[in-house]
Formats: sequence, C-alpha cells, structure tokens
Amino acid sequence: MKEFSLYIKSFGCQMNDYDAVRIMKLMEDHGFKKATAYENASHILLLTCSVRQKAEDKAFSELGRINLIKKHHPELFLGVGGCLAQHYGKALIQQFPFIDLVFGTHQIRDLPKLLKIPKNGSKTVSIAMDNRRTLYPETPYAPDGENICAYVTIMQGCNNYCTYCIVPYVRGPEKSRHPDHILAEIKSLARAGIKEITLLGQNVNSYNNDKKNDGSFPDLLKKINAINGIERIRFITSHPKDLSEKLILSFKELEKLCEHIHLPLQSGSDRILKKMNRGYTRNEYLEKISSLRQTVPNISITSDIIVGFPGEQEDDFNLTLELVEKTTFDDLFIFHYTDRTGTRASVLDDKIPYETKIARLTRLNRRQQEISKTVNTGLVDKKVSVLFENKSKYGKGFIAGRTRSNKVVNCQADTRNIGSIREVKITKANIHSLNGTLLEEGF
Ligand code: SAH
Ligand code: SF4
Ligand code: F3S
Repeated sequence: MKEFSLYIKSFGCQMNDYDAVRIMKLMEDHGFKKATAYENASHILLLTCSVRQKAEDKAFSELGRINLIKKHHPELFLGVGGCLAQHYGKALIQQFPFIDLVFGTHQIRDLPKLLKIPKNGSKTVSIAMDNRRTLYPETPYAPDGENICAYVTIMQGCNNYCTYCIVPYVRGPEKSRHPDHILAEIKSLARAGIKEITLLGQNVNSYNNDKKNDGSFPDLLKKINAINGIERIRFITSHPKDLSEKLILSFKELEKLCEHIHLPLQSGSDRILKKMNRGYTRNEYLEKISSLRQTVPNISITSDIIVGFPGEQEDDFNLTLELVEKTTFDDLFIFHYTDRTGTRASVLDDKIPYETKIARLTRLNRRQQEISKTVNTGLVDKKVSVLFENKSKYGKGFIAGRTRSNKVVNCQADTRNIGSIREVKITKANIHSLNGTLLEEGF
C-alpha cells in the first residue's frame, strides 16, 4: 500500500493551530505519517484565515509557492481549509485550479474520507455547515514530543455579529463543547506532560449560554483548576459585554488561573462602538477594567483596537487614544479596518482613506510602545515565576518562558529548565519582552 504523509500549515488564530493538531492526530489514526516539509509530503493541508485582508493575502501567496512545488510534484494532494476556504468555497478552485480539495470549518471529522478520494483530476468542495454536532472526534489525544503548553478549543463560532467581522459567517453560530469532553482532553494532556492550557473561543464568557445546565465558564475553570499536573490556565478571548463578576472573582479564587486577560476594546468612541455593534459603551468598558484591577491588583490587561472604521472622525480616534493613555494596557494589537465581504460594515459609507488609517495606527502604536516599555520597566528587579517553554530566539544559551501575566522572559540558563516553573529576577525591560536571571537552583 502506498504510504501517505501529511504536512499541515496553519495561518490565522490559535483555533487554526488547534485544528491543525487535531487533524494531524485524526489522520495519524487513519494511517497517515506526519511530514516535516512540503517536499516530503504526499498531502498538504493549508488552514487559512480571512479575518483581515492581510491574512487573506498571506494565504494567497502561500498558494503561489505551493503551485511551484506542485509543478515538480504533480501527484501532491493539496487541500485548503479554514475560514478563507469556508468563505470562498468553489471560487477558490476556479482561481487556483491546482487545488484538489476545498473544505470548510465544519469538515474536520470528514477529512479521513476526503483525503482518500482518488485524485484522477477530480476536485472536491465540501463546505456545508453542520451545527448539530461537535467538530472533533471526542476522543482525548496525547500531544507530540516535548510540548509544555497546549490549546483546547472549548467553543466554536460566534453569535455577536460585530459589523466588521467575518468570523460568525465562516465559523457559524456559537456552539459549546461538552465539559466532560473538555475535561477528559485536558486530563489526557496533563498525563502527557502538558503544564499550561489555553482555552479557546471567540467569546469564552458566553460558554454554555446555549446549555445552561452544563455549567458556566467559571464552573468549567474551577473543574480544570482541580486537574493534577496542570499548573497554569489561560483563556482567549473575552468579550467585554459578557465579562461577569463571577469570572473576575475566579482570578482570585483559582490559583492556577493566570493573572492576564485579553479584553478587546476595538474603539474608545461610543459612536463607533455602536456602529460596530459591540454592545458596550466606553464607560462600561472602563468599569470592567476597574473592577478587574480592584479584585486582581496585579492583573495584566491586553486589548485589540481597530482604527479607521467607516466614519471614524479625528475626534473618535482621539477618544481611543485618550482611553489608551489612561488605561495603561500591558500591550495592544492594533489593526487598520479592512472590508470583509458580506459584513454590515463593508457596505457603510464614509470609508477612511488608507493613509489616514495608517497614520492613526502608527500614532497609537508609538504611544502604546512607550506605555508597554514603562509598564515592563516597573518589573525590573522584581521576582516573577516563569514557566520555561523553549529555547529563546534572543541569543545562544538563552531559554524563554512566560510570567503568569503572559510576558515573555529570556534567561541565560540550561535547557534542562524547560518545562519547569522557576523564580526569576527581572534585569531588563524591552517593549514586548523581559530579560532575567534564575534566582533559585535550577540546572
Ligand atoms: N473574538 C475575538 C476577536 C476575533 S478577531 C473578539 O471578539 O475579540 C481578532 C481581532 O481582529 C478583533 O478583535 C479585531 O480587532 C480584528 N478585526 C476583526 N475584523 C476586522 C476587520 N474587518 N478589519 C480590521 N480588523 C479586524
Ligand atoms: Fe468577531 Fe465580534 Fe464575534 Fe469577536 S465577538 S469573533 S469580533 S463577531
Ligand atoms: Fe481567522 Fe478564522 Fe481565526 S477568520 S482569526 S482563522 S476564526
């Protein structure tokens, strides 16, 4: 029998990274081997993202690269999945005829069948959404190799329909995985040596809103907190409108829940927040921040901001800038608005010129970099706990890990410390990372 080997490349958010792990496991169960590069694979899968124009462009240029490889290896099977595939469907094959399979975000379970379709020049498009079932075969799996951290998707889709966003259209309506499946998976990951879990969902605060009897998100966190072997728990993303007092209290009550929250603001102007359909006002957002800081004084807070949403005036932008000034975020991800076909914002008038969007982005970025540097400088000479994850790109002999507040720390230390939590003294602050020295006897 011919041996099949699979290479998966994933773009976009952590959900695609998680899907990539699950797909590889599933295909290994169906006799596929994991390939280490395009060149030694019999099958390639691309998991794509559609959230912003840049994400789409990345996928298109990768397709161009694969086309060149396919010219020399015409037998190579190319499947394109993820959010961009869901969005374009058949049109993707029309534009890139060298694609063999287009599959959507709800087809993961069907891949063993879809990848074994004999090629004979035929093309397959499978993008039907199926919201009645879970997307993954619900059998716990063990991670590969020496990983320390793992993602676990706890819900799929989104019901919020922010007017700029394509996610609800490409991932479908919100659907929560059963807590028993999540817990079994995390126990299996812990047995395999995983120390840190990041729970994924577009809006984890509304976990199980559809099935109240199975427990809320804080209830799930409490159960995960009790799993032996797991030392740290994180989650992304929280929607400000659904951030409950109960969840805020969880940071205080659950010792494994790390003191970091990513709470996307998007804009500091009520007029724009309304046009975005975000469901909260500037003041309500600020109240959540002050409640978080009151309950968890050392919490680190990061956020997403979109500049140049249709109709955003200089005054609106200044309100965002002012909110950023007074909130002291630890870090910000700032995007310039791009139209996504099919969304409500894409048909609004009053689009902002590209140059204005980039000027606002640059201004906000500069200011935030100064703020991040100041926040990080405040940590110099402080003692922090770092879970070391891998070798550092910072330099030879360095390893890297993260603080509970999710800041990267580079340390000159033996690689045998990887996988352990060590006390570290911070010696230097950079904009996006810290340097430190080991305080206690490691290796
Ligand atoms: N579910 C998450 C975000 C998912 S998308 C949440 O609600 O926060 C990640 C980020 O991409 C968003 O927070 C937003 O800042 C940005 N984004 C989404 N659509 C965009 C668009 N059309 N143009 C620019 N940025 C966008
Ligand atoms: Fe998109 Fe809004 Fe849903 Fe986040 S909450 S995925 S920004 S629609
Ligand atoms: Fe992108 Fe889809 Fe994630 S659009 S951000 S890969 S949910």
